[in-house]
Amino acid sequence: PPERPLTGVRVLLTAGPTREPLDPVRFLGNRSSGRMGFALAEALEALGARVTLVAGPTSLPAPRVAERVDVETALEMHEAVMARAADCDLFVATAAVADYRPIDPAENKIKKNADELTLRLVRNPDILAEVAALPDPPFTVGFAAETDRVEEYARDKLARKGLNMIAANQVGGAQGGFERAENALSVIWRDDRRELPMMDKTRLARELARLIAERYQEHHAA
Ligand code: PMT
Repeated sequence: PPERPLTGVRVLLTAGPTREPLDPVRFLGNRSSGRMGFALAEALEALGARVTLVAGPTSLPAPRVAERVDVETALEMHEAVMARAADCDLFVATAAVADYRPIDPAENKIKKNADELTLRLVRNPDILAEVAALPDPPFTVGFAAETDRVEEYARDKLARKGLNMIAANQVGGAQGGFERAENALSVIWRDDRRELPMMDKTRLARELARLIAERYQEHHAA
């Protein structure tokens, strides 16, 4: 039915931040609240999809989705996604995954003895790029969070990671992006684009879900 175009489609979606432990009591984190991802998970489910949400730590109320897997670190998110990626039709990466983690988290609380402290970090796996590079990949939608040159960096990620679509947003500004109730997105795919102006994340997620459903159907009709 046209109002539930994703009926029977298995969606895997990441949302929220990750936390990378420095020691048992501290972590490196980021400003993602999970709002954008949770709203998108619900909007896709409302279009008929069966959504598995892989969520980093958030304080949001439980979203209406088929399944939820809670994780904390980028490595845990990576493991949860890779264990399920072969069994999904559509993968959406809304999470703000830490690009780096402390190389060797301290076993005990770090003491403030020195005036300077140097952290050594190591790169985390790129979950989105790895899913898109699977032999039989799902339809893959990435996000791009940029403070500057939003479109240029988003197009680069679309091409370099081999994605079907990318939703780019400006972060770190006065409006939209992390934490806020509102956001705006430039949605880009190979041969077209759509601007979704600043609006409430719930409404924005519904519009983005519709766009994803259209592109997904077109992809499978081809
Ligand atoms: O959670 P909110 O407060 O509502 O904020 C929403 C948001 C700003 C977090 C969201 O709209 C958003 O932009 N999410 C992507 C954040 C991000 O980390 O973007 P990026 O440009 O650094 O990463 C590009 C893409 O690769 C993203 O789809 C990301 O999920 C994915 N990625 C990145 C690194 C990594 N190790 N693994 C990944 O899968």
